Amino acid sequence: MNIQKLTSLAQVAKTRSIISLFDHQDRAKNFSLSLPNLYLDYSKQNINDVELEQLIDLAQKVDLSANIARQFQGDMINNTEERSVLHTVLRAPKEIKQEVLGAALAGEVEAAEQQMKKIVSDVQEGVLTGCTGKHFTDVLAIGIGGSYYGVKVSLSSLEHYRDPALAVHVIANVDGGALEEKLKKLNYETTLVVVISKTFTTQETMLNAKAVKQWMLSCVEEADLKLNNLSSVIEQQWFAVSSNIEATKSFGISIKNILPMWDWVGGRFSIWSAVGLPLALAIGNDNFSKLKQGAYEMDIHFKSADFKDNMPVIMALLGIWNRNALEYPTLAILPYAHSLRALPGYLQQTDMESNGKSVSKSGEKLPWLTAPVVFGQEGTNGQHAFMQLMHQSDDIIPTDFIVALKGRSQYTENHKVLVANCFAQSEALMQGKTIEQVKTELLASGCTSKEVKRLAPHKTMKGNTPSNTLVMETLTPEAMGSLLALYEHKIFVQGVMWQVNSFDQWGVELGKQLGSKVLSVMNGGEDDMLSASSKSLIERFRNS
Ligand code: F6P
Repeated sequence: MNIQKLTSLAQVAKTRSIISLFDHQDRAKNFSLSLPNLYLDYSKQNINDVELEQLIDLAQKVDLSANIARQFQGDMINNTEERSVLHTVLRAPKEIKQEVLGAALAGEVEAAEQQMKKIVSDVQEGVLTGCTGKHFTDVLAIGIGGSYYGVKVSLSSLEHYRDPALAVHVIANVDGGALEEKLKKLNYETTLVVVISKTFTTQETMLNAKAVKQWMLSCVEEADLKLNNLSSVIEQQWFAVSSNIEATKSFGISIKNILPMWDWVGGRFSIWSAVGLPLALAIGNDNFSKLKQGAYEMDIHFKSADFKDNMPVIMALLGIWNRNALEYPTLAILPYAHSLRALPGYLQQTDMESNGKSVSKSGEKLPWLTAPVVFGQEGTNGQHAFMQLMHQSDDIIPTDFIVALKGRSQYTENHKVLVANCFAQSEALMQGKTIEQVKTELLASGCTSKEVKRLAPHKTMKGNTPSNTLVMETLTPEAMGSLLALYEHKIFVQGVMWQVNSFDQWGVELGKQLGSKVLSVMNGGEDDMLSASSKSLIERFRNS
């Protein structure tokens, strides 16, 4: 059995109604998993226990357990960049750090953690201040991709835990409008800046960092501050998280304010490192530790639970069943929580930048499809955006619903309605509504048979859309850490099953190369290599 054979295994499922699977007693109980911070109901998936066993068998055939062990012990599983993948170590206890990294590197990691904690406590206590001695009121984090999404999703999900006296902002897009929107809110004297960039060469981050630096220096000049030198404001108020120390220093950031990034931590898995500094400044050291603790608990579960009871493995196998057996090309991430509104965007990078590939680790063209197109937005907003398509187009779109049973706001009735909508949507997507049901309803509502004939076809719903529902008691740092780690491990398992390297991202290089080319043509350079379409577009720009 291999992935190519899954379509034959799914022949029965393709003509089966999910709702019929509930004829088996205790399906809801048997197709669910419960962990301290997360509950997974996968009973609305179009799969029975025989099919699931076949998938588990497939996982065993690709030696998944050995692959998991290799990741956690630091083998160079990122084979094209010849790197280990050890973001998990960053949230593990000291003794595991020592065991996996060795004393020297574990010492470096420990030092970085202490450096981060000290920055956070010194800012909170006013030991670290702006160049005029005022307490910091704002933090501006500059980064993109993995140097942005992890901070963004965690800041918004844990807004309940944020220090009201310290507003943390993130900027990623190179669009000056995004930058101006932030800068007009900031006071140069009380803004701490964190530049996050592993390479310290990413075009958007460098342009934004230069613009913010120019803004801050011109504010200092205008204020005619009696600073011993202009650059002292940068040395005092700027921090960086990078592996490129030379580039960071030449930008003007003081060496004591540079925190490390290691090549064995991928950008999209880096929130557990000093990349999390803006988040730790927002929620405090203790809550940042609780986020890591929640992730660590998921690591333990992932490494130790039998596959049939293993939440990341089950979610990964269900994703493969939907993608490769039932051949559904997309995955909707629908968090029914305003505070999780950034989760779909975060998972777009984590999932699609990891497994959006078509060549195996050893370089062969893959005979099967890999990562789905991931999209989504917060519920209930999605119900007024794309749920129409999900209910009535011919496309079946597997969905992950995520919800917290207890809300944070005072509006308890609103929260109850939010949760009700979440459960209702997963039920509606599964049940649908047949034309007979529609006709009965229309007749009962008093419609004439002519109206029933006219309207009924437009009101049927296909149903049979599979979904997971992930439930948290409350959205706490621990629960958030477990959720992020759950998806990291799910994506890892899928990468193993698809035989791709989930940890490089060569696909972003061509866009970067052509970006520089187009920029040079805009500045009058040779336009060779470009199509007539791009040349004419550039001409329009130049004449605008
Ligand atoms: O999206 C491409 C990418 O290389 C990501 O993998 C990375 O997180 C992001 O760009 C930013 O890179 P850096 O941290 O080097 O600025």
